[in-house]
Amino acid sequence: MANDPSNKVADELARLRGQVNHHNHLYHTLDQPELSDAEFDLLFQRLQQLESQNPDLVDANSPTRRVGGAPLAAFTQVTHEVPMLSLDNAFGADDMSDFERRIQTRLSITDPITFACEPKIDGVAISLLYEGGRLIRAATRGDGTTGENITDNARTIASVPLELMGDSYPDRLEVRGEVYMSLSGFDEMNREAEATGDKVFANPRNATAGSLRQLNSRLTAKRPLTMFCYSVGVVEGGALPERHSDILTSLAGWGFRMNPLIEVVKGVDACNRYFTRLQEIRSTLDYEIDGCVFKVDSISEQETLGFLTRTPRWAIAHKFPAEEGVTRLLDVEFQVGRTGAITPVARLEPVKLAGVTISNATLHNMDEVQRLGLVIGDMVKIQRAGDVIPKIVGVLPELRADDSRKVLLPGACPACGSDIVQPEGEVIARCSGGLSCGAQRKESIRHFASRLALDIGGLGDKLVEQLVDEQLIETTADLFQLGEESLVALPRMGAKSVNNLLVSIEDSKKTTLARFIYSLGISEVGEATARNLALHFHDLQPLREASVESLQEVDDVGPIVAEKIAAFFGQKNNQAVIDQLVDAGVCWEPEVVEAPTSRRGLSGETVVLTGTLLKLTRNDAKARLQALGAKVSGSVSSKTSFVVAGDAAGSKLTKAQELGVLVLTEQDLIDLLEGG
Ligand code: IVH
Repeated sequence: MANDPSNKVADELARLRGQVNHHNHLYHTLDQPELSDAEFDLLFQRLQQLESQNPDLVDANSPTRRVGGAPLAAFTQVTHEVPMLSLDNAFGADDMSDFERRIQTRLSITDPITFACEPKIDGVAISLLYEGGRLIRAATRGDGTTGENITDNARTIASVPLELMGDSYPDRLEVRGEVYMSLSGFDEMNREAEATGDKVFANPRNATAGSLRQLNSRLTAKRPLTMFCYSVGVVEGGALPERHSDILTSLAGWGFRMNPLIEVVKGVDACNRYFTRLQEIRSTLDYEIDGCVFKVDSISEQETLGFLTRTPRWAIAHKFPAEEGVTRLLDVEFQVGRTGAITPVARLEPVKLAGVTISNATLHNMDEVQRLGLVIGDMVKIQRAGDVIPKIVGVLPELRADDSRKVLLPGACPACGSDIVQPEGEVIARCSGGLSCGAQRKESIRHFASRLALDIGGLGDKLVEQLVDEQLIETTADLFQLGEESLVALPRMGAKSVNNLLVSIEDSKKTTLARFIYSLGISEVGEATARNLALHFHDLQPLREASVESLQEVDDVGPIVAEKIAAFFGQKNNQAVIDQLVDAGVCWEPEVVEAPTSRRGLSGETVVLTGTLLKLTRNDAKARLQALGAKVSGSVSSKTSFVVAGDAAGSKLTKAQELGVLVLTEQDLIDLLEGG
């Protein structure tokens, strides 16, 4: 068979694939490219060409297959064979000393412990499962027990090996690590998105999470994702070294990307010095880290130490404190929200904080401006902690310049010129222009199209802006009258985007009553209240006709909200828009009330979520609570069954404590959802 020409082609294909994989590994995993981009492209094109000429010889793991495949309808669930745990936190040197002491006591030793020190990468944890050296499944961490199958997406990440190098790897091997986006890749992606009017991401972690949860892996392939590996899960049919640091070295040998800052040290003092060093170089890194992770290096010691419910006793995360910076307040501008609320926004002299350039900060309302004693031109202290939008935490009045200006609430709306009103006792100032104000119109249309409302894909912020500015639409109802001719005339709207948009608009007509009520953007009516209104009234007409008194019979609706709802439905122009929406074909099934026989675990309970949830998304937590029959409300009262307090919980937590309402942590909630 040596002369069989197809054999020769197969050999050539194998050789080319080997070369492309080798140079991919040098470039994406080791950061040590040997070929120029042009040389690599030639090699890659040769492989592509040969594969297209010989489709029967194409291997699913060929490096040319990293471009993504057909979109999925939904992700399937994956149960982790070995749970993906989280880490206990240390908040200072004392906690670190306690950590080492606990370990020494359990191991009955007094010598300093040998630790592997690693940066804590601020990305998204995933699991990669290999059988016979081939990637067979990738999954998100999810709640640690169950994640989502994101194999198609992970395959597009160049630093995720599709096939392992060498031959000493175990038959079944699960490798875990953090997928993230470099800061430079993130900035470039956002710059492009801004130019093309696509969605701009708030930060690299959100962008990473969003990219990994794309149902269309071709889109994931375009995102600058990469991965650092830091541990293993399932290991069968083969043995791994006796030290964590040596396991990482083995993983690197099989082609996985390792963080170059990992070190092995003796004793907790050395860990603390590592922490200080990383804090110092943090702003020079091209990726976000939010602290350090310290792991007992000896695997047999790890085994002796074992686990608590959700965290290993042999590892701890020491997070960096919120980073503070100082910059100048250049100006305060006023933005107009959907309901006319005027929000002051601080424009800052750009400053780098934790690797991200900050040039704006929200100020919420004029009370906040007064509380801070802000004056334009001031040097201000800003803080950024994790995901949180940067905020101004104080001013340095001693540095105040002579030409500083007071921050004044404008008398007229910056968008439409209507009067700004601030009723006695209210914190929020509003534009009185209603839907005659272009800014309010845009915001209300954006809200109507948003994911939790009618979910019109393809109708991004920029497009709404254009449609309103070009006077193609005035109200949400006008969206359903849009035609192909007017849309193709818009800049950057090709025939395909126009078609996709029209299909999304058509698809959005079939909705639920709760979504529809939410989409109307009634002041004070969030998603939870919209759902309660739908469950109470079952259909739109009775809600439209409801009196202020009867509205207060709805869970979670007090006199102020009832007043707002009744006022909204009482307005002639709102009535006209609702009629037009229904005439255009927007429809929903009548809301069905759960039969009393199907009483579920939390039915009858009212839950409030507050603060930032770190492991679950808020929507996820809400959906899972609702699936158990709970009502998720936006405000705490004596009727609240319990409050789940996430990170940086504020006034709702205080109120719960004042009222003696039960407060759960995010972990308690996870335990509860998992059947506890
Ligand atoms: S080890 C049982 N190492 O931090 C130990 N985690 O709070 C499991 N993370 O879900 C994790 N960098 O997403 C480990 N070098 C690192 C890490 C790291 C980031 C994340 C990971 C995990 C979370 C734990």
